[in-house]
Amino acid sequence: MIAFHSIVLLFLFSCFGKAFGRLARFESFNTTTYPLAKCNDGSDAGIYFANSSSSQPTNFMIYLSSGGWCYDAKSCHERFVTNHELMSSTGWGSERDVQGIFDSDYEPLNENSVWVNVPYCSSDGWMGNLDNEEIGFEFRGHEIVKATLELVKERWNVGKGDTVIFGGASAGARGAMVHLDMVADFFKDSTVLGVLDSPLWVDLNPPDESTVGLLDQTQKVYEVTGVRAVSGGDGVITDDCAESFLEEEFKCLFGQYRIPFIKIPHILISAEFDSFQLGQDGLQLPYSPSENEFADEFGDQMHRVFEGLMANMGDKHITFYSQPCYNHAISMGSSYFTSATSNGMTLNDAVRTFLGNPLQSQDLTEYCEVGFDACTASGTFCPSLSTAW
Ligand SMILES: *[C@@H]1O[C@H](CO)[C@@H](O)[C@H](O)[C@H]1NC(C)=O
Ligand SMILES: *[C@@H]1O[C@H](CO)[C@@H](O)[C@H](O)[C@H]1NC(C)=O
Repeated sequence: MIAFHSIVLLFLFSCFGKAFGRLARFESFNTTTYPLAKCNDGSDAGIYFANSSSSQPTNFMIYLSSGGWCYDAKSCHERFVTNHELMSSTGWGSERDVQGIFDSDYEPLNENSVWVNVPYCSSDGWMGNLDNEEIGFEFRGHEIVKATLELVKERWNVGKGDTVIFGGASAGARGAMVHLDMVADFFKDSTVLGVLDSPLWVDLNPPDESTVGLLDQTQKVYEVTGVRAVSGGDGVITDDCAESFLEEEFKCLFGQYRIPFIKIPHILISAEFDSFQLGQDGLQLPYSPSENEFADEFGDQMHRVFEGLMANMGDKHITFYSQPCYNHAISMGSSYFTSATSNGMTLNDAVRTFLGNPLQSQDLTEYCEVGFDACTASGTFCPSLSTAW
């Protein structure tokens, strides 16, 4: 069976070349111009990009990659061993096949588009700006985002009439969440739209007290990566958010608390049973009855947070998309095209719907009525996934 699939894949691949993604070339940042845009270990950060066939591109996709984070000396040093490529550019290839939302068969914009995937190597949710000598690593996510914006603007002359789609997956979405309004200021002559895939962390205490929960992790990242140094005018923590949380300013890095402050039109994406968050909350499949109960509570909380955001949107423009599924940040993989809500709407469809009409707020959410266990009983974690292989 495995051999058969390999042959089929080989056949498809040789017939259609890079039909499963888009070939992007690496370019490191100029270290003279961007001396602080560095990975954790001090190696040069950069971008993977695919040029437009047009000499006058008008659409720009800038998408930040995923990869969790670390929040203290122990977790960062472990990560350096187990996930070296997420802390250093030394092993990165000169080309990368970027997938999902980057797929070359799929032009949500048109052929006048430049595609930029920013690889992740700062372990700070793209929020930090500090050389932390105590921990022994630099945290320069914010500098990497700024270098990316400046490089793209200058190289392709981004300006009036152009559209910039700025977003990311998982940690990339959290980075995009805290930068989106700043990006819109930076490209002030252009239309800026956000695609935020799975930044919506919800505030629940993990069942086991020894687990470092997501809110605690966020506070630690705030403290060790120098986020405070980039607050104020530079975006990561905006004044209005800081004023709301005062001495708990770190909450401005946490989805449930930060997302209500985002002003720029965006699509907010989250699975009801976000598998990454449930894992970080200490749950391991298969779930025990009490873990199932926690997952149900988690799903209810996710649903409530979505409803609260919808109820308090004011005159902002947000498209909401939630699958009643156990998955996470599928926008850079093949399930972007397969995993769907029960009416067949994939994430690909939802993003297209948003980009086609970004100023019409739309509710594309679906929630499971029967609880985590029943929704995921098939082992496929999503009702509509059962026919996909
Ligand atoms: C980097 O930028 C500096 C200053 O603009 C320029 O002189 C230099 O040629 C650039 N280096 C590369 C490798 O492009
Ligand atoms: C990509 O496009 C830009 C702007 O047109 C151009 O300066 C650059 O040389 C192109 N790069 C490649 C590798 O084609």
